[in-house]
Amino acid sequence: MTGPSTAASSRFEHVPVSVFPGSAEAARAVARDIAALIRSRQAETRTAVLGLATGSTPLGLYAELVRMHREDGLSFANVVTFNLDEYYPIQPSNPRSYRSFMQAHLFDHVDVPPAAIHVPDGTVPLASLEAYCHDYEESIRSAGGIDFQILGIGRTGHIGFNEPGSPRRSRTRMVTLDSLTRRDAAGDFGGEENTPRQAVTMGVRTILEARRVVLMAWGQHKADIVRAAAEGPVTPQVTASFLQEHDNVHFIIDRAAAGSLTRYRTPWLLGALGDLGLEWDPAMTRRAILWLSQLRGKAVLKLTDDDYNEAGLQDLLRIQGSAYDVNLAGFYQLQHTITGWPGGRDPSRTKPGDAPARPLRSSSSGVFPKRVLVLSPHPDDDVIGMGGTLCRLVEHGHEVHVAHQVSGANAVSDEALARALRFVGDSGLADPAAAGRLQSICAAHDATGSLPATPEIQNWKGLVRRQEALAAARVCGVPQGRMHFLDLPFYRASPGSRRQLGDGDREAMRALLEAVRPHLIFAAGDLDDPHGTHRLCLHALRDAMAGLPASGWVGACELWLYRGAWSEWSTDEIDMAVPLSPQEVLRRRRAIFCHETQKDMALFLGDDRREFWQRSEDRSRRLAETYNALGLAEYEAIEAFKRYAPEEFLRDLPL
Ligand code: F6R
Repeated sequence: MTGPSTAASSRFEHVPVSVFPGSAEAARAVARDIAALIRSRQAETRTAVLGLATGSTPLGLYAELVRMHREDGLSFANVVTFNLDEYYPIQPSNPRSYRSFMQAHLFDHVDVPPAAIHVPDGTVPLASLEAYCHDYEESIRSAGGIDFQILGIGRTGHIGFNEPGSPRRSRTRMVTLDSLTRRDAAGDFGGEENTPRQAVTMGVRTILEARRVVLMAWGQHKADIVRAAAEGPVTPQVTASFLQEHDNVHFIIDRAAAGSLTRYRTPWLLGALGDLGLEWDPAMTRRAILWLSQLRGKAVLKLTDDDYNEAGLQDLLRIQGSAYDVNLAGFYQLQHTITGWPGGRDPSRTKPGDAPARPLRSSSSGVFPKRVLVLSPHPDDDVIGMGGTLCRLVEHGHEVHVAHQVSGANAVSDEALARALRFVGDSGLADPAAAGRLQSICAAHDATGSLPATPEIQNWKGLVRRQEALAAARVCGVPQGRMHFLDLPFYRASPGSRRQLGDGDREAMRALLEAVRPHLIFAAGDLDDPHGTHRLCLHALRDAMAGLPASGWVGACELWLYRGAWSEWSTDEIDMAVPLSPQEVLRRRRAIFCHETQKDMALFLGDDRREFWQRSEDRSRRLAETYNALGLAEYEAIEAFKRYAPEEFLRDLPL
């Protein structure tokens, strides 16, 4: 367990919550509990009935159970399983079905008797579905009820596929999926239009009848919903909150998924920090001041003693003396995040009296110009997340390299590629044989509306994105020779199979780092992207850095994280804020426009269907407004970065 863990610290939590530093340890702990149950039942020659979930969350758990079977002799011969849910309609043999998922990740590798496996059937005719669901409940009952129910939690707060609105008394039934759930699954199905609209799921009541329930959650994208489920009211709007009514439930989460719990976000609300084993260090102080300023709707320098007292910050006031002193400390910290020199100042153009380029560490601040490496998971994350800063780094004369980590082929629609192929076919540039082949591929597309997902087609899609990225680089002034396309192999895994980093990914990252030997790295720290690509890209960087000697350039290298299209850093996390002028915002927009194939993607992203340039502008304008409301100057837009110290970087990354 990490962080404050006294009884007082969990005062806001209505369920027992254990926070692990990483998901791997957490998954191992759950696997140990399941193994203990299975073994104790074996000793009594009884069955152990497991309720199982699918999705990314239980992957580590299943891998550990398989390992225990292979290496520690854990037998599943006395195990009976019931899966929570299945898409509808879907054939069990479809690689995206939950049945296939369970076979691939657990059932094919352990000795659970096939007859003891129950996964809802996505092929039952509609007319008999109600009876089928009733029978599913009946088989759970006749197996003796579920002993140990594993759950993940969806971003809608669903458990199983009990979407918002599902009543507490609900049982196994057919449901319509929430649009957010369908978007989260769209990557696996090759687009939202191919994603099933319905599913068969155990009900809330079915789940609550299990004798023991463990809900697992990993990653910051789950943090807000975990908080709602653990600390919020019991409501059908967040069906996981019904678990608060279960008397043997446990949330097992990693540090990132715990980030919004009161004990981490606003621990001062729990009492004196000292009593929680925490202290008012500068980061905590800043967090409290910014929180208070936003709570009171007042600029930092206008906060009074009364504001602090009434919001439960007496402790901070006592330590610092007065609101005046706390305010100043907080204000300067915030002010010092702002810089127009993201790569540091040019010493030859620095006059005495110029403000220092503060956020940069002194070890690299003397080097000018610097070698800068901007890592972009997909080919457009760089310009979406930090296009203004990228342009500015180039303008300041730094040697800026941009590396696109994956090809981005999966996000090019068949329609967009077919259009490009038609152009080549019709242009007269291709020889007759090639033109004929392209025309027949396009004719097949006309007839079926899709292209085959062959390596060749995927490769062409990647090339389309490459051209878009090169065009964006021209807008930003990055020389074409400094554009790197890594095409990391993990991204090429076939749909439905688990993506994981391999030696090829790490080696490609290592070779790039050694070739550039950057003074500054900007990497996407946006771990919220729906398909986990950003997370794996950051892992690849972490692994590659860990394999390099810290005594060389790595030791002096500064690492900054930017956010992509999905969300912004919270103000208290920001270490560097780069203000943009209106012209720079427009230039960034032009760079994002170069990623033409991604316009289609807007249709799948969020209820508002905003395009990436709109997300990027809204986000950076909103941040500028936040800085202004806190009492700082009024800027058009701000791009924000968080420093990642290598030690922190190596330790904290969620899987
Ligand atoms: C899966 C299921 C869902 C998932 C949830 C989280 O059987 O019932 O409730 O547990 O959608 O999915 P991941 O783990 O992919 O984030």
